[in-house]
Amino acid sequence: MDLQPLIEGIVEQALDDVSELGGEGDPVDLVPHLARPVASHTISVMLGLDEDDHAVLHRISSPRFDLMGSGSGPFGSISDAIDHFLDIVRRQREHPGPGLIGRLVRDHGTELTDTEIAGLADGLWTGGLESTASAIALGGHLLATDPAAACVLREGGPDGVDGWVEELLRYSSVVQVAFPRVALTEGELGGEQILAGDLVVCSLSAANRDARFGDSAAHFMPDRAPRSHLAFGHGLHRCIGAELARVELRAVLPRLAVRFPRLRAAEPSLVTGEQLSFIYGLPAVPVLLDGG
Ligand code: HEM
Repeated sequence: MDLQPLIEGIVEQALDDVSELGGEGDPVDLVPHLARPVASHTISVMLGLDEDDHAVLHRISSPRFDLMGSGSGPFGSISDAIDHFLDIVRRQREHPGPGLIGRLVRDHGTELTDTEIAGLADGLWTGGLESTASAIALGGHLLATDPAAACVLREGGPDGVDGWVEELLRYSSVVQVAFPRVALTEGELGGEQILAGDLVVCSLSAANRDARFGDSAAHFMPDRAPRSHLAFGHGLHRCIGAELARVELRAVLPRLAVRFPRLRAAEPSLVTGEQLSFIYGLPAVPVLLDGG
């Protein structure tokens, strides 16, 4: 399945909605009207979900990364989503859908259990939703608050877009820590003595501010010379959706910049980071479209 044109269609639809909501000079929040719809519709199309299933999963997934309340928020959300994916897999065994779930059912039959396919679908849904939505929201916030950066994205051509997106990924580091690793042998790492069996948690946001990025590491510089970053982690468990996330970011952010050249933050003082979450993000990005 060629996802790129489908993603471009999803982006255009979301931008039409944004345009309609903000057409009269009203503020529009880019989180529920652009970032989340683009991220969730993309995974939904990839998995082959219908609109009803997409809507259910979208609703039950919100508390998944919210660590402010008790564990019942995230844990309840995870088990509800897995139950719903199990239901989808059972239905798609009868009528395989057009996406990944249908393909696994068709190509692998009973080689894979319902629980395995539901778990895989849930992993992709979880991995791709909040992370990508946060990156889109942070990119939208940058466009609305940094006119010079917006100009680079509008006028930089395809290479400029790629550089801008890579810098956004490095600078925002939305997934702040890699999955914990267990040390198999003892050794020294960054001046720390690690023993076999120790749990090692790597801060990706700190790595992405490493001195090797220079004095400007703490700043967003879209024309920075290309240098690999760790926003998607490293090694065997590096993000499996990295290329998909890049396609989404390269589709949505330049279109947002070109379509609304006078985009600006509606209430900059109200923009705050998520209070406590695995993912670095903004709960709301209110913008004005006309710059008025
Ligand atoms: C800007 C968007 C994204 C960022 C910054 C991001 C970042 C990450 C990071 C840091 C990891 C852990 C890597 C490690 O521990 O070495 C990870 C794992 C993962 N991501 Fe993403 N991700 C993004 C989008 C996506 C998307 C779109 C999908 C799927 C549709 C996805 C699916 C996954 C999965 C399944 C894993 C687990 C991989 C494994 O355990 O082998 N991610 N991601």
